Amino acid sequence: MAQTITVIPGDGIGPEVTEATLEVLKAAGADLEYDMQLAGLIALKEVRNPLPQATLDSAEKHRLLLKGPLTTPSGSGFRSINVELRKAFDLYANVRPVRTIVPGGRYEDIDLVLIRENTEGLYVGVEHYIGMHGDPRAAAESVMIITRFGAERVVRYAFEYAQKNGRKKVTLAHKANILKYTQGLFLDVGHEVAKEYPDIEWEDRIIDATAMQLVLDPYRFDVLVMENMFGDILSDLMAGLVGGLGFAPAGNIGTDAAMFEAVHGSAPDIAGKGIANPTSLLLSACLLLEHVDQAETAQRIRDAVDTVVQEGTARTVDMGGKANTKEYTAALVRALA
Ligand code: NAI
Ligand code: MG
Repeated sequence: MAQTITVIPGDGIGPEVTEATLEVLKAAGADLEYDMQLAGLIALKEVRNPLPQATLDSAEKHRLLLKGPLTTPSGSGFRSINVELRKAFDLYANVRPVRTIVPGGRYEDIDLVLIRENTEGLYVGVEHYIGMHGDPRAAAESVMIITRFGAERVVRYAFEYAQKNGRKKVTLAHKANILKYTQGLFLDVGHEVAKEYPDIEWEDRIIDATAMQLVLDPYRFDVLVMENMFGDILSDLMAGLVGGLGFAPAGNIGTDAAMFEAVHGSAPDIAGKGIANPTSLLLSACLLLEHVDQAETAQRIRDAVDTVVQEGTARTVDMGGKANTKEYTAALVRALA
């Protein structure tokens, strides 16, 4: 029986890239059924709730989501629905692979995976102001939270991922020289877990040096694992190594649920124009296919993306081409035929 997944098209370019993605999945013969649900600004407009109960119920039932970008108002307004969903299903590992698709960029043949802890660190949002001398915001404090439990499961996920995907090496990036307690704990747990995987090469590296090495010589890395904020920053850096956010997919993985999404946002500047690049969401759907044991279908889609992008006649505007979303999608469908 086909696996049913919850699909949230989302805001801005979300509906456009979702439509394209579902069309390619169909052409590739993905064995999936779709339960379409609302979230984000569009849900706020239509049912006055940015995260409707029906969407949560659907996610609760299927435990597998494909999600377009959601607009989050900055400062005031509702909290990030992305963060809410990650929390609701305890999606602790954020898996972000990057791979060179468009030739002629800064580097050829990049193939790296960053695994970011998704529930702890500074992003737990435990912060407050400290008032002094009549200034209520004279200072501010944030608390970085690392637990042995949280560190262990994400590092273990990185090693399991490496093993399952035939990868050779895991690098743990940290700042234990300065943050001796929080980062020190993360690093210590890393050393312990690494002992259980003697067949996988293992190293730890200071985060700032890792950032420099990623730019100078990305080929020395394979799988990288780190806490939340470091992972947030370095995963964008790594997307930059392969030509930007248009090609960067992400999976948010928990013990019994997973959500796959494009790394980019809702791109309000080009929403509704029909020119968005759907590759990031499509590659996220490929991660979902692998997650449900349809790796062969995922590989056929990736091959089609490679073929169309490298051939060059149907590239979208962000890739330096002239094709719109529909033309690029049609080319992918033809490449799959
Ligand atoms: P953005 O990623 O939406 O856009 C940045 C730039 O990249 C824009 O010029 C946009 O046109 C371009 N771009 C992004 N995706 C593209 C695509 N698929 N094809 C072609 N061009 C693309 O980031 P921005 O503008 O900072 O954020 C817009 C909204 O998205 C905000 O409300 C933000 O909170 C939200 N957001 C949501 C995310 C999610 O749902 N996971 C992630 C990041 C941002
Ligand atoms: Mg980010």
